[in-house]
Formats: sequence, structure tokens, C-alpha cells
Amino acid sequence: MRLRKVKHAKELLSEDYPFVVSDPVSPSGKWKTLFPINNPIYLEIGCGKGKFITETAKRFPNLNFIAIERFASIFVRVVEKMLDDPLPNLLLINADAEHIDEMFGFGEIAGLYLNFSDPWPKRRQAKRRLSNPRFLDKYAELLVDDAVVKLKTDNFGFFRYSLMTFNDHQKFWIKQANLDLAKSDINNVTTEFEERFTKMGNPIFYLEIVKKRSYI
Ligand SMILES: C[S@@+](CC[C@H](N)C(=O)[O-])C[C@H]1O[C@@H](n2cnc3c(N)ncnc32)[C@H](O)[C@@H]1O
Repeated sequence: MRLRKVKHAKELLSEDYPFVVSDPVSPSGKWKTLFPINNPIYLEIGCGKGKFITETAKRFPNLNFIAIERFASIFVRVVEKMLDDPLPNLLLINADAEHIDEMFGFGEIAGLYLNFSDPWPKRRQAKRRLSNPRFLDKYAELLVDDAVVKLKTDNFGFFRYSLMTFNDHQKFWIKQANLDLAKSDINNVTTEFEERFTKMGNPIFYLEIVKKRSYI
């Protein structure tokens, strides 16, 4: 069963799809030209099977979206969703966000979603966390002034770490921190992981972070 699944994934991903950007470095600085309409571009890193980004792209047809997922076996699920129900305002990248600074130009992205990022709980793994200062330096370059970063997690350690790294970074300020998203009035599109954790009764921690304006 598992082997069949892997084979299916390989076959699907060996095709060329107009919504999968196989070389995400070349469009750096000109992503807007890849969408039919030049609208602000929002980015999700670690989209998993793509429930959140496909639903969000459907809900906001006047915005453009890009989703990055590094594992092909998971990425194939969002590809399947796009084959079933194509969305002109969504592009997909199967790559590691480690190289995100090579993929996007300065101020090219209007907002960023970090949904249930891997918490990498061990201290020696901190460099891999998507809210590590190394990544924040990269986000500060690719985000426009006043761009909002929306972070959701069920992991309190990762939440606290992210709160501190964003708060300590000179290019960001924390607009909102919420300890139980489901009980808030925040308009929310859920992710696969979120549904799972909510069913288990776990609170979802939420951060809204703003990129500071750069003054010349
Ligand atoms: C815990 S899952 C959450 C998936 C989805 N966002 C959700 O909430 O259901 C984290 C996802 O982020 C992806 N991911 C983690 N680090 C990444 C990176 N550096 N670049 C791209 N994807 C990454 C993982 O492969 C995984 O699919």
C-alpha cells in the first residue's frame, strides 16, 4: 500500500504543471508576472497537504498566494487538490524554505503564514525552527513594510520561542498574541494539523507580527 502511494506520488510529480514552479529561484523579483492578475502575494511556508492555502486562495480571489512544502510525499497532496479544483491565484513550490532568500526579491511578499511549523524542540535543533532569527532576517527582506506574519501552533515551547525571537528582532513588532484561537473572534481558516489538535482539545496559540516600516 505504502509503496503504491510513493509510486503514485513520483508519477504525479514527474509531470509539468503550470501551477508548480520547479525552479523557484529564477522568478525572484518578478513573481507578480507569473500570476494572471497582479495582486499582492501571500506566502505559506510548510503548507503540508494544502488545506489552508487552497481554502484561503478560494476565499480571497483578489489576492495571490504561493505555498512551499519541502517533502514531495506531502507536496503531492496539494498538487492533487489543485488538479481537482484549479485556482489561478495559487502557485506551489516543492523546496526547502532554507533557500527562501534566493527565491524572493526585496519586498515582494505582502504577508506570511507559518502554520504548525515543526517545533524542533531540542536546543541543538533551534537553527531549523522557522522562527529562528536566521529566518527572520530573510523574512524581513522579502516582506513589504507593514506586512503581517500570522503564526499558529499547538506547541507552547515553539510559541514562546517565536514570541521572543520576533519581539527581539529589530524589523518586527508583535501586534497580537492569543492563547486559545478557537475561543477568539479571529476569522480563521483551519489547517489539517489544527483540526487534529482541536479535536484532541488542545488550545491553538496564535501570533500576529508586523514588519516595521523602513525609514530612509
Ligand atoms: C507539522 S506540519 C504542518 C502542516 C500544515 N501547515 C498544517 O498545519 O496542517 C509542518 C510542515 O512544514 C513542512 N516544513 C517544515 N520545515 C520546512 C522548510 N524548511 N521548508 C519547507 N517546508 C517545511 C514539513 O514538511 C511539514 O509538511
